[in-house]
Order: sequence, then structure tokens, then C-alpha cells
Amino acid sequence: MQITVVGYGNVGAGMVKQLSAAGHSVTVTGRQMENAEKVATQYGARSAPLASASDNAELIVLAVPYDSVAAALDALGTLDGKVVVDVTNPLTSDYMGLTIGHTTSAAEEIAKLTGASVVKAFNTLFAQVLGEGPVFPSQAASVFVASDDAAAKERVVAVAGSMGFSTIDAGGLKNARYLEAVAGLNIYLGYGAGLGTQISPTWITR
Ligand SMILES: NC(=O)c1ccc[n+]([C@@H]2O[C@H](COP(=O)([O-])OP(=O)(O)OC[C@H]3O[C@@H](n4cnc5c(N)ncnc54)[C@H](OP(=O)(O)O)[C@@H]3O)[C@@H](O)[C@H]2O)c1
Repeated sequence: MQITVVGYGNVGAGMVKQLSAAGHSVTVTGRQMENAEKVATQYGARSAPLASASDNAELIVLAVPYDSVAAALDALGTLDGKVVVDVTNPLTSDYMGLTIGHTTSAAEEIAKLTGASVVKAFNTLFAQVLGEGPVFPSQAASVFVASDDAAAKERVVAVAGSMGFSTIDAGGLKNARYLEAVAGLNIYLGYGAGLGTQISPTWITR
């Protein structure tokens, strides 16, 4: 699949690494082209400026801080009809709380800004887990996927599966309110409670 990753930071680079390893055709973009090029070269991807990076993209991963999403979307140009994966968590500056929740979520706010279908996914994975890969000793790490667009959700489920993650259908985009809170708990457990960043939330059934 043709996938554009916006952002070459912790999560962006991890996504480029794992998507490229899974055989996808990956383009990485951002404000500093030399940084995008560096990550692209490292993982066998391509780089392109923000304005043209999503021209042929079947999936666009927004791996930028929540507060930077509006500016990034502006720079990307129209994404009408495309599928955007929102990995963001709307964190307070000390990373120990969420700036929005209960009545909305980052994903729902992002959906208001774009003509693309928005899928919440990957936000509960530490970048370090993305970097290391999906396989834990007992099972694969989980990607929770929420969207109001069934076809868009299916596309993201397929891509996460191709990367080696298990997937959990988390329902409509409104449930991003829960997923962003789960990410908040994961951050507390990893950093606040000292469990470290090789942890990952999942759901088990009997
Ligand atoms: N780190 C984690 O473990 C983790 C886990 C799950 C979800 N998340 C979420 O994933 C997102 C990225 O986190 P991160 O840790 O990868 O952050 P990061 O390392 O700081 O990377 C952020 C990236 O966004 C780019 N960026 C910032 N403003 C931009 C704009 N206006 N247009 C285009 N690119 C812009 C930055 O590049 P320039 O500043 O050079 O433009 C950088 O490449 C955040 O929303 C975070 O909440 C993070």
C-alpha cells in the first residue's frame, strides 16, 4: 500500500521502519526535508515535501503533536476522500493528563478539520514498542482501531496486521475518547509507575 507518514520523530520514524519492513511503499514528510530524507534513507522509504507527499497516498499517518495537527493538515493540502490515521494523544505539558476528553477527543476534533476519513489507531503504543516491533514473548502487541468509516477502518486493520500487530475493533470514532485515556494510563504505567516503555495494553477474552 502507498502510505505517507507525516512526522519523522519517535512515532513517525517507528512507523516508517515497521511499514517499510512490512513491504509497504512509504513516503515520509515533514517541515525539515533533511530530517525526512534521513529517516527515509535509513528505512528504505522515500521523502517528499508536505504539499505533495499525500498525492498518491492510500493512507496518511499523522505522527505530529496534537497541537500541530491543524498546521500540518494545512500544509498537506486537501485530503478529501483519503484515509488519515490519527496516532495523537492530546497530552498536558507534563504528559500526565489529557487536555480534552469526556465530550470529545483529538480524533473527533481532527475529523472536523479534514475531508478525510479519520481512523484512531496506534496511539496506545509507545514509540519504543513501535521501534522494537510488535512481538512480545507471549503475544503480539495490540492496535486498537476506531472509526466511523468501516472501509477506512478495514484498511488500517489490514495494515496493522501486515506489520505483525494484533488488532482490536474499538468501534466508532467517539471511542477515541477511551483510547486516548488508555494511552494516558499506559504513559503513567510506563513513566509514572516505572514499568518502562516495553509495555503495551491489550484485551483478552475467554
Ligand atoms: N512518543 C510516544 O511514545 C507516542 C506514543 C503514542 C502516540 N504518540 C503521539 O504521536 C505523536 C508524535 O509523537 P512523537 O513522540 O513522535 O513526537 P516527536 O518525536 O516530537 O515528533 C513530532 C514530529 O512532528 C513534526 N511536526 C511538528 N509540527 C509539525 C507541523 N506543523 N507540520 C509537520 N510536522 C510537524 C516534528 O518535526 P519538526 O518539528 O521538525 O517539524 C516531528 O517530526 C504525538 O501526537 C504523540 O502524542 C506518541
